[in-house]
Order: sequence, then C-alpha cells, then structure tokens
Amino acid sequence: MILPPRNASELRLLDTYGRVATDLRVSLTDRCNLRCSYCMPPEGLPWLATPAVLTDDEVVRLVRIAVERLGIEEVRFTGGEPLLRSGLVDILRRTTALEPRPQTMLTTNAIGLARLAEPLAAAGLDRINVSLDTLDRTRFRELARRDRITDVIAGLDAARDAGLGPVKINAVLLRGVNDDEAVSLLEFAVEHGYELRFIEQMPLDAQHAWSRETMVTREEILARLATRFTLTPDPTERGGAPAETWLVDGGPVRVGVIASVTSAFCGACDRTRLTADGQVRNCLFARSESDLRTPLREGASDEEIAELWRIAMWGKKPGHGIDDPGFLQPDRPMSAIGG
Ligand code: 5AD
Ligand code: SF4
Repeated sequence: MILPPRNASELRLLDTYGRVATDLRVSLTDRCNLRCSYCMPPEGLPWLATPAVLTDDEVVRLVRIAVERLGIEEVRFTGGEPLLRSGLVDILRRTTALEPRPQTMLTTNAIGLARLAEPLAAAGLDRINVSLDTLDRTRFRELARRDRITDVIAGLDAARDAGLGPVKINAVLLRGVNDDEAVSLLEFAVEHGYELRFIEQMPLDAQHAWSRETMVTREEILARLATRFTLTPDPTERGGAPAETWLVDGGPVRVGVIASVTSAFCGACDRTRLTADGQVRNCLFARSESDLRTPLREGASDEEIAELWRIAMWGKKPGHGIDDPGFLQPDRPMSAIGG
C-alpha cells in the first residue's frame, strides 16, 4: 500500500495527481420514493439492511473528522433520496455547528420538501439542488414511475420561499423521452427564478442500459437551447465546479451543462464520497471502496479514521475512464453512491 506523505498535507485529502478534495458528498440512504428509468428498475433495488447503514451519530462523527482533520469545506447530503432519512434535519444542524462551519447542500427529488424546506433552512442548509427532468405530468409518471410531479413543483416553491436560493434544478435528458424539453425546462426555470443545469447521462444506472449512442450530449443540449435563447459564456470563474455555465439572453440568469461524459472535468475534481454504509469512494466511478464503518464500530480514534480516509483518497485515479476500451461500470449504481 502506498501511503500519502506526512507533513503540511496532513490536514488535507490529497491524491497523487495533485488534487485536493474539499467537497464531501454523503449518501444518507440508498432508498428512493421514485424509480427514474435511467437510475433504477421498477421494482427498486436490494436496499442496504438497516444495521449496515450508519447511524446519525456515526454520520456526524465522520463528517466532523472530515471537517476538523481533512480540510472538508462543503458537505452535500444525497441519497437515494435524502429526505427519506428521518434524522436529516438533526444531522444538518449538527453539521452546521462544526468549526470551521462547512457550507451545506442537499440534492433531492423534492418529494416532501414542501414540508421540510423551512426546518432545513432553520438547521442551516445553505443550498439545494432539485432533480426535475420533465414538466409534463404524464411523462413524469412514466419517467419516474410515480405520479408525483405536483409534490416536486410544490417543493421547489417552498425551497425558494424558505430562502434556500438560488435553487438549482438538475435535469437529465433522455433521447426520445424528454429531449424535446430543453427549451421548456429553461423557460420554466427563468420564469420561477431557478438555476437550471443539464447533466449528461452517465453509465451509473442499475440496469446497465446506458449507451453512448442514445446519450444526449452537451452539444445537442446547447443546440436545442440556441433555438430559443442566446447563450454567451459565463465570465465567472468555474473552479472545480462540474457545471459549465452560460448567460441566458445576456444574463443575469444562467444555465449550466454538466458534461461528465463528453467533456470530463476529472482533472479539477475536488470530491470525496461517503456511502450510507460508511464506505469512502474516491470517485463516482471507483471500482473499490475503503471501509470506515468497521474501524468506526471497533473503536478507532478520530486520527486513525482520518488516516484511512487520506489513504483512500491518495489512491484516486486520474479520471473515470469511460472512454477506455476496458471501462467497467462500478458495482454500485448512482442511487447507492450519491450524486
Ligand atoms: N447520469 C446522470 N445523472 C444521473 N442522476 C442519476 N442517475 C444519473 C445518471 N446515470 C442525477 C439525478 C440527480 C442527480 C443526483 O444525479 O437526476 O439529479
Ligand atoms: Fe430516486 Fe434520484 Fe434515482 Fe430518480 S434519479 S430514482 S429520484 S435516486
């Protein structure tokens, strides 16, 4: 095993390519109340057993170690669907009480957000991303296999009213399903003051049905938007952000595209991930994980856990390798890793 160097780097998560992870993504559950076709089969997946899932105290301890000893500055809670986690508000409150206080974010399908937006904001949530792929009720019911679009729209409104703005919307376009909605999704976002980002579909579906041929690319998305809007490159600094952004009709509204496949941004990646069962993943596409749950439950010290996390990140590969002939999807689907 190759160990990371010990010196000034001790308080950071470094890898051998010089990247520093400052953004932690924590999956709080692998369960979801939707069944988006590009993510899960209709019958759902074999969920993690409850004893395998970190308790609220365990989650908060790992987040604290990441913030206090590893230089994590942003914590994003994801799922599955994180609003299904009953301890979410408490986990958030304890996360925002850490020193130095990390920025906190949530990626959600917004079902239940109408009720939870206020308590989440009161617990210190800084920003929110809502997944919404279509504005058509029938299509939503087909794509997500549940008739819940009104809950999502109500959740978006509630998030904005609770001061969680700018609320971002994530949309995945699927060929022949909703790829004709790029313009209408952006019109909706402009009208309601949400910031829309399209995400290229990635090979992370449980069904392994992804194909490069059917994937809707960044270029196609931009071409569709150009039929209605004038897009100019956003002059603000992109940094490690995965979204490339454009000003819509001169601004100030912006639209983004996360072109993970056709324009990978792995070289600027600043992420580390923790699964709901306490495994560190140094990449969405990693084929191996580092177990923190076992040492945690066997009484390891904060420093011992921090060191295991540093070692896990030190082994991060340069990129996802989707274009490599030998590319293999990770065993866990997106819903069990966290977006
Ligand atoms: N490719 C791209 N985005 C995906 N998401 C889920 N699965 C995929 C995939 N295979 C999106 C969801 C959500 C975010 C967490 O990631 O729509 O917005
Ligand atoms: Fe649930 Fe998100 Fe997967 Fe849709 S994409 S089924 S909302 S985890």
